Amino acid sequence: MRSRRSVLAVPGSSPRFLEKAQGLPVDEVFLDLEDAVAPLAKPEARQNIVAALREGDWTGKTRVVRVNDLTTQWTYRDVIEIVEGAGDRLDCLMLPKVQDPTEVVWLDTLLTQIEKTMGFEVGRIGIEAQIENARGLVNVDAIAGSSPRLETLVFGPADFMASINMRTLVVGEQPPGYEEGDAYHYILMRLLMAARMHDLQVIDGPYLQIKDVDGYRRVARRSAALGFDGKWVLHPSQIDAANEVFSPAQEDYDHAELIIEAYEHYTTVEKRGAVMLGDEMIDEASRKMALVVAAKGRAAGLSRTKRFSPEG
Ligand code: GLV
Ligand code: MG
Repeated sequence: MRSRRSVLAVPGSSPRFLEKAQGLPVDEVFLDLEDAVAPLAKPEARQNIVAALREGDWTGKTRVVRVNDLTTQWTYRDVIEIVEGAGDRLDCLMLPKVQDPTEVVWLDTLLTQIEKTMGFEVGRIGIEAQIENARGLVNVDAIAGSSPRLETLVFGPADFMASINMRTLVVGEQPPGYEEGDAYHYILMRLLMAARMHDLQVIDGPYLQIKDVDGYRRVARRSAALGFDGKWVLHPSQIDAANEVFSPAQEDYDHAELIIEAYEHYTTVEKRGAVMLGDEMIDEASRKMALVVAAKGRAAGLSRTKRFSPEG
């Protein structure tokens, strides 16, 4: 499992940002050819990105390039130039504004052709699908199952809010006038269900008020609590918050590892199914919950501070 707690957006038109991103402590970078790049700057951005992938040091980071969406004329050239130029230095392509599973199938097929032409391992490059409008959300189950290359679904809140006419310009915040609940709950849960049905990760999108780190943290906690794996960061100020909010707390991580170890001991050595760990009753379902927290903790680089001993 790749860790994707913090996913940094880097405009492909800026050699300075492409350089700076390499030194930042994020789990993933996506080098952007889409909305952060002006139409006339796109051809040069492709070249900048190929050069940055080939010559830069991206050690420890998942390397992703966001191409333009399939309603534009740019997508096929984005894919061909990036993958032919640097496909051996690339982990995934991100396809924005996906509305229909056929779009992902198109990208999968094109990737296979380029991989064969270039002599790359076929199927190694993954796909991240951004869900950013009503049609994409309604079709999200089929999209999530459309290719074995898919690694994650990504929520695009800015485009999404625009697409459904939600009455707010502040991405991530509740629209004024709606006090009853969380206006994003349905969308986030819908994405989460589709992703988990196909064992994909699911990533929350940007928070645009980059000076308001408390606001970022509040919005990030909301999707983290539901089960999201990470969130975009647009600025270095948001990175620590993302890494922290999407890592399990040390205490929860220790607890999860203890449950796994204790359950293993009691079910195999003592052949019992539901057992006590201190004051807590644990069973097979507890083990499954613990496996999730433990996997996230391990991926985030946490180490154990407690060990299980059968005596108590
Ligand atoms: C990201 O692409 C968004 O639209 O929020
Ligand atoms: Mg978008």
